[in-house]
Amino acid sequence: MTVAEGAASALRVPVELEGRSYDILIGRRLLDDPAAWQGLPRASSVVVVTNDTVAPLYADAVEDALRRALERPVSRIVLPDGEDHKDWPTLQSIFDGLLGSGCDRRTLLVALGGGVVGDMAGFAAACFMRGVPFVQVPTTLLAQVDSSVGGKTAINHPLGKNMIGAFHQPVRVLADLDVLRTLPRREVAAGLAEVIKYGPIADAAFLDWIEAHVDDLVALDPAALAHAVRRSCEIKADVVAQDEREGGLRAILNFGHTFGHAIEAGLGFGEWLHGEAVGCGMVMAADLSVRLGRLDPAELPRLERLVARAGLPVRGPRLGAARYLELMRHDKKAEAGEIRFVVLDGLGRAQVQPAPDALLVSEVIDAHC
Ligand code: NAD
Ligand code: GLY
Repeated sequence: MTVAEGAASALRVPVELEGRSYDILIGRRLLDDPAAWQGLPRASSVVVVTNDTVAPLYADAVEDALRRALERPVSRIVLPDGEDHKDWPTLQSIFDGLLGSGCDRRTLLVALGGGVVGDMAGFAAACFMRGVPFVQVPTTLLAQVDSSVGGKTAINHPLGKNMIGAFHQPVRVLADLDVLRTLPRREVAAGLAEVIKYGPIADAAFLDWIEAHVDDLVALDPAALAHAVRRSCEIKADVVAQDEREGGLRAILNFGHTFGHAIEAGLGFGEWLHGEAVGCGMVMAADLSVRLGRLDPAELPRLERLVARAGLPVRGPRLGAARYLELMRHDKKAEAGEIRFVVLDGLGRAQVQPAPDALLVSEVIDAHC
């Protein structure tokens, strides 16, 4: 797919997938630039799926650019904001809206919002008429560096997060850095956790760069953000291209998530943001890597300092080691009840491995909670 010249100043990261390749465009003032919307599949109509926080901020501009670029009818479906609404009734409301306005298999969906909207609109696109194209327009830092890329879509089930879903790749991702200016500070920090993650698992030089620029990132400096989003997307695109359906390698993207998931579930989802739990979880996973003799002990305080400088917690809640271990057995990486961890083999390399001795994991928990 070609990207129009007008959006030429945008950075372009390709995601190479046999027959389903697409571009991630990263830049400023992209949303209302009709050129950024050129070259998409021919659509009969366009539906923007967003939520009641993001809609008043950006939906008019996006729809205006879409009308000018695609010259097709554009309508809007507004979902209630929040992870609590990432569920069947809300998904059904998307289908109600699509069928009620006569959409067909050539309708293009546009997911405008954070990871919750992206995951839900993506899942709706995967199912509606057995699959329609969709564009991801991520408006949180977390969504720009992680959830909008790679085609994982899902809703939650009362028995587990993201348990009902599909792989369905977008046809384009438009990451407009300017929208991050309206994002609450806590959400910016949560997104930085996922940026930091890419250093230890795949690129030690990127970790050095983040250390040197973390204050610029917290201050939303456009040049620093552009580099961080681009390098994060490049690393994720590379991993996804090698292992789209998480047969193995893709699981390294969950560094820190086994401990983080236990924190989120143990406190009740929503108490800590996902990125906050991942930030703390990365420190714990790095400590586990040290205790396994795979990571230089000097790297642990370094990572801990960086996570703290990003505005993220580095000490987990005191749930008790037994409770942590019980919660981790429900992690999606667990196999037949056996917990699996992403551990570091030095900085810049990661692998998934079955749980080491429970005592070792308990020591990590006791040291950081
Ligand atoms: P979110 O979508 O809930 O957004 C956070 C908050 O910010 C919401 O209140 C939202 O309305 C608001 N918001 C969004 N953009 C804004 C803006 N520009 N200005 C002001 N407010 C704005 O949370 P998130 O952190 O973006 O995403 C979390 C979700 O992503 C979870 O459901 C998680 O499961 C999912 N996720 C999916 C993947 C994947 O690969 N598909 C990866 C990681 C996370
Ligand atoms: N966020 C993890 C993944 O996309 O696989």
